Amino acid sequence: MPLIPFLKWPGGKRWLVAQHAHVLPPTYDRYIEPFLGGGSVFFHLQPERALLGDTNRELIGVYETVAWRRKQLESRLKEHQRKHGQRHYYQIRAAIPDDPVERAARTLYLNRTCFNGMYRVNHEGQFNVPKGTKTAVLLDTDDFAAAAALLRRAELRVSDFEPLIDGAEGGDFVFADPPYITGHADNGFVKYNETLFKWEDQIRLADALARARDRGVAVVATNASHREVRNLYEERGFALTKLKRYSSISGKANGRAHLHELVITAPGRTRRHSSQRPRLRARLTSASPSLKRNRPRPNGPPD
Ligand SMILES: C[S@@+](CC[C@H](N)C(=O)[O-])C[C@H]1O[C@@H](n2cnc3c(N)ncnc32)[C@H](O)[C@@H]1O
Repeated sequence: MPLIPFLKWPGGKRWLVAQHAHVLPPTYDRYIEPFLGGGSVFFHLQPERALLGDTNRELIGVYETVAWRRKQLESRLKEHQRKHGQRHYYQIRAAIPDDPVERAARTLYLNRTCFNGMYRVNHEGQFNVPKGTKTAVLLDTDDFAAAAALLRRAELRVSDFEPLIDGAEGGDFVFADPPYITGHADNGFVKYNETLFKWEDQIRLADALARARDRGVAVVATNASHREVRNLYEERGFALTKLKRYSSISGKANGRAHLHELVITAPGRTRRHSSQRPRLRARLTSASPSLKRNRPRPNGPPD
């Protein structure tokens, strides 16, 4: 059953899985997504084993809560739905609660009801988007039970991308969807987190992906199709494909623009146990104590 991401996130890759899923490798050992955001590719692939990371603590907090405190989260969302309105929105926006479930419910509530449906923070890391026109806090497409089951198989980390990519082994698959450069490389960068993703970070990423590729890791990365970015990956021997898509948050007068995006790939080494079906292999590997140790269980068993 396909799973729809429950967060709408800037740079989301729903379009990639809807139109170009063939760029993703059919088999791999472990799925690694170091710029998780809304997790479109993760929810599309539903891997047996996964390592997921993002520098955004609020975001990772939402996934951990869905995984382990789903029922409490859903009941908080129902409450937000009941109370939703101008006053409630700004009241919830004004303060970040300490309780992780309240916090995750706040992020999801704001994500779904804010202007343009995009959770963005300013340079001080504060969420200051005004209320939007959408009123649905709970959606027909929500399947938190299935998302929880999937997320409990994954390891979640608040982390910079580099250690996650450096931990990938031959046979693993890294999908990397970093913040894009905007306009030209010397003309400012996409900014929707507490820190900017600088040109040096783009170089650091290309180097980490090249090291992973050399260890036999399959790589798919996306980026803006700018000359500087293409050079960065061409110089390191990656295959490049240009894809066309429409963007509805382009900031253009009509709100839509035709954009070119770059897909950067390296095939990776054939899986060591390619004769085993992914499900069987995952069941065998999930019995490994090292894997179990890494499972995020923030507050004991799931509710
Ligand atoms: C383009 S979005 C990913 C979108 C995602 N693929 C989706 O489908 O929704 C990029 C993500 O990278 C995260 N990020 C920014 N700098 C990072 C860093 N240095 N390491 C890891 N994640 C980072 C941001 O918080 C953001 O969630």
